[in-house]
Amino acid sequence: MTTWDSQAYDRDFAFVAAYGAELLDWLKPQPGETILDLGCGTGDLTARILEAGATVIGLDADPAMIDAARARLGDSVELRVADAHDFSVERPVDAVVSNAALHWMPAQVEVLGCVSDALVDDGRFVAEMGATGNVAAITTSVDEACREAGLPPRVWPWFFSSPAQYAAMLEDAGLEIRQLDFYDRPTKLAGADGLAKWLSMFASDVISDLPAEVLERAEEKARPTLWRDGDWWADYRRLRFRAIKVVSS
Ligand code: BEZ
Repeated sequence: MTTWDSQAYDRDFAFVAAYGAELLDWLKPQPGETILDLGCGTGDLTARILEAGATVIGLDADPAMIDAARARLGDSVELRVADAHDFSVERPVDAVVSNAALHWMPAQVEVLGCVSDALVDDGRFVAEMGATGNVAAITTSVDEACREAGLPPRVWPWFFSSPAQYAAMLEDAGLEIRQLDFYDRPTKLAGADGLAKWLSMFASDVISDLPAEVLERAEEKARPTLWRDGDWWADYRRLRFRAIKVVSS
């Protein structure tokens, strides 16, 4: 399992939380609702849902993230270390929300089964995740640098779905799509070391055996596409959706 440096995550990748806040417009949390934040990380989105007057349950697989969320939120929120492929709630919730976490989960059918089971009838599932082609310029640059150096191809750990594929999986889990966006969102990785920091935060297992020259070569290869005006721009491509649990007969 990937483990995270929660402080570096909040410091260097604050954009994850900032973009996550946009999900609130899709979620529309209401006072009195119970909302589950799946892959809550350090709890930024969780805090915003709480501010809206909802009760929140935050789940994350990484104990370090749950510790950081607890430091931020105290006891006002139920926070649990849990595997998204195998979780359940005592009482069904009004909504499940997930920001930039689903693409880390290898068995989507299991995840969506748990999400569906956790929701009340008509409950909402609102999420943003990487879509097909997400960060392809980054992974291709590293792969090409490895090939040139005679190193084995990388195995990238993420699941990036097309809109059609994900809509079908949601439907199979009893979740009906009501709104779906599929869009490019170039994302600034500030400064000359922005790409290196991104790789070491999010792909540390993938690059751990690579010599510095190979990583430098990967940067050289990525530069014409991803370096603009003094910053790196990761080629993020997003799926954002709102689905409803269809009423069981
Ligand atoms: C993403 O949010 O799209 C993402 C973040 C880290 C690694 C891969 C994808």
